[in-house]
Amino acid sequence: MPAHRYALPSQITNTGDDEVIDIPERVNSERYLTLRARLDTGLRTLLMPASPSLQKLYSAMAYGVFEPGKCLRPMLAYSACEAMGGQLDAADGAACAVELLHTYSLVHDDLPAMDDALVRRGKPALHVAYGESTALIAGDALQALAFESLTQSSQVSAGIRLQMVEVLAKAAGPAGLAGGQFLDMTLAGDRPNNDQIAEMQRLKTGALIEASVVLGAMASGADLQTSRFVAMSKYAEQIGRAFQVRDDILDVVGDPLLLGKATCADRRADKSTVVSSRGLEGARQYASQLLLGALTSLDAFGAEADELRQLAHVVVARSF
Ligand code: IPE
Ligand code: IPE
Ligand code: MG
Ligand code: MG
Ligand code: MG
Repeated sequence: MPAHRYALPSQITNTGDDEVIDIPERVNSERYLTLRARLDTGLRTLLMPASPSLQKLYSAMAYGVFEPGKCLRPMLAYSACEAMGGQLDAADGAACAVELLHTYSLVHDDLPAMDDALVRRGKPALHVAYGESTALIAGDALQALAFESLTQSSQVSAGIRLQMVEVLAKAAGPAGLAGGQFLDMTLAGDRPNNDQIAEMQRLKTGALIEASVVLGAMASGADLQTSRFVAMSKYAEQIGRAFQVRDDILDVVGDPLLLGKATCADRRADKSTVVSSRGLEGARQYASQLLLGALTSLDAFGAEADELRQLAHVVVARSF
C-alpha cells in the first residue's frame, strides 16, 4: 500500500472523480496522531494473549485490528466526549470498543458466505490469511472484547457504563448492524426503494457510527437529558447514513489502492446501494444533504464541536 493510504484526515483529498468538496483544514495531524496513540495503547492491552495456546487466535485478531484503517469511529467517540466537556481518558473504553466491533464486522463481511472479499485494508482479508474458521472465531472474539472494553471504562460511573453496554448491544444486534447485514444480503438482486435502502444502510453502518458518537458523549459524564445530547445524536445519525453513501460512491469511483479493498464489488454482487438506486449524481446530492443536516444539528454548539464538523466533511469527501 502506498504510504498515503494512512494519510491524516486533513490530507484527505477527493477521488479526482470531478467532485469538488471543500475540506476545512481543522483536524490537524498532531491531534490525529495523539488520538491514534491513545487508541493503540488501549487496543494492545485488550489484545494481549490470555494464554500461549491462543497465540494464533490473538495474532489473527491483531492482524484484523492493527493494519490500520481510518479509525473514524474512535475519533468520533473522542471528539464527542470532548465536545460535551469530558476528558479524553473517559472515552478510551468506548473508542476501543467501537473499533473492535467495527473490525469484527469487516472480518465477517468479507467471508465467502457474505461479500467474499479477498483484500481488506490493503492486505489479504483475514480469512484468506488465517482460514475461514479462524476468521469466524476471531470476529466473534473481537465482538466480545468490544463489550469487555466498555465495562473497563473506570472513569465512567457503573450506571452509565451499563447504559453504554446497552447502546452498543443495540447498535450491534438484530435492530442494528447484524440486522442491516441481513438486509444487505437478502436485498441483493432485488430492486428495493430508497426507503428500504436507507433503512438497510442505517442499520448496517449508521448504527455503529451513531453509537460511536453517543458512547463518547455518554462517557463525558454530561447530562444525557439535555438538548445538546439530542442534537449530537441527530448529528450522529446523519453522518452514519452519509458514511455508507460515500462507501457506495467509492465502490464505483474510488481507487482500490487507496481504499485498500476491491472496487466494483457491489455491482458484481448485484448489491442494492444508494448508487444503484439514485445514480452517482443522486448519491452525491444525497450525501451533501446529509452533511448539511449533520452540520445544522450542531448549531447549538460552538468551537468545541469544530472537530465533529470537520469529521462530517471527511465522511462525505474521503477518498478511502
Ligand atoms: C468500511 O468501513 C465498511 C463500512 C462500514 C462501509 P471503513 O471505511 O471505516 O473501514 P476502515 O476501518 O477505514 O478500514
Ligand atoms: C459493510 O458494508 C458494512 C459492515 C457492517 C461491515 P460494505 O460491504 O459495503 O463494506 P465494504 O465496502 O466491504 O467495506
Ligand atoms: Mg457487505
Ligand atoms: Mg463488503
Ligand atoms: Mg462497500
